[in-house]
Amino acid sequence: MTWNVQQYLKFGGERQRPGFDLLAQINDLPPGPLVDLGCGTGIHARAIAARWPDRDLIGLDSSASMLAEARQSEPSIRWVEADIRQWRAAPKAALIYSNATLQWLTHHETLFPRLLADLVPGGVLAVQMPRNFDDPSQTLLRDTALDGPWAANLAPLFDPQIETPSLLRPDPVGTARFYYDLLAPLASGGIDLWLTEYVHQLAGDDAVLEWMHGTTLRPILDALDASARDGFLASYAEKLRRAFPRGPDGKTLLNFRRLFIVARA
Ligand SMILES: C[S@@+](CC[C@H](N)C(=O)[O-])C[C@H]1O[C@@H](n2cnc3c(N)ncnc32)[C@H](O)[C@@H]1O
Repeated sequence: MTWNVQQYLKFGGERQRPGFDLLAQINDLPPGPLVDLGCGTGIHARAIAARWPDRDLIGLDSSASMLAEARQSEPSIRWVEADIRQWRAAPKAALIYSNATLQWLTHHETLFPRLLADLVPGGVLAVQMPRNFDDPSQTLLRDTALDGPWAANLAPLFDPQIETPSLLRPDPVGTARFYYDLLAPLASGGIDLWLTEYVHQLAGDDAVLEWMHGTTLRPILDALDASARDGFLASYAEKLRRAFPRGPDGKTLLNFRRLFIVARA
């Protein structure tokens, strides 16, 4: 899947705040290297480097365009182009941090225990993922994709069996109970889970469509030719305008629920 860095950063403040809220809940770390999985443009990796200087820190991402942006900044961080699905920590890590990324991957029932097993004793797995898949921005996207001349092209993207991008499955992120049951027996140092619903105040025309352009829409647009793309976007935009009316001050409110997990090995 291709990422457009400028489009992603259009709502950079809103998208990156949860990553800082996650970072704020990480206390002391044992000795060992630190990793940001799906580091994107590297903003949280830079904050991790500032908080724990003199550590080996890896910012890992599969997107060359995201990493090109990241590399321009902090030379002390090792920016690595790789796929999380194949990655193993060697040596084991003191922190595996991942903001707004693991929802793109399938098989959490094996992925999360594997990440916890890649930590030194006392090490921390810190993850934030969206849990807003029943929001109209998401349900209308699925409705539009599966009802139109483009449906045959797009249906495979919604197949729960496909490996990636799994974000298009109806429920790519489990409940807090699911992650608790999975990780609590393995997290000797304890586990903390919480949900936060952010209320984003988005400016501009078709603001929710613009927001979706930065992430979830990307694999869909990649799968369509230019004319199908225009038809799809017009249909989706019209539904979004009805579901998300602009207020008198011109702002559109987008409620966005996110799940946070901090588990200590
Ligand atoms: C929504 S962005 C989040 C970026 C950053 N963590 C942030 O909070 O700004 C998701 C990132 O995950 C990366 N990603 C998705 N699947 C991946 C995979 N299988 N392996 C490595 N990176 C992946 C994407 O390239 C993208 O940079």
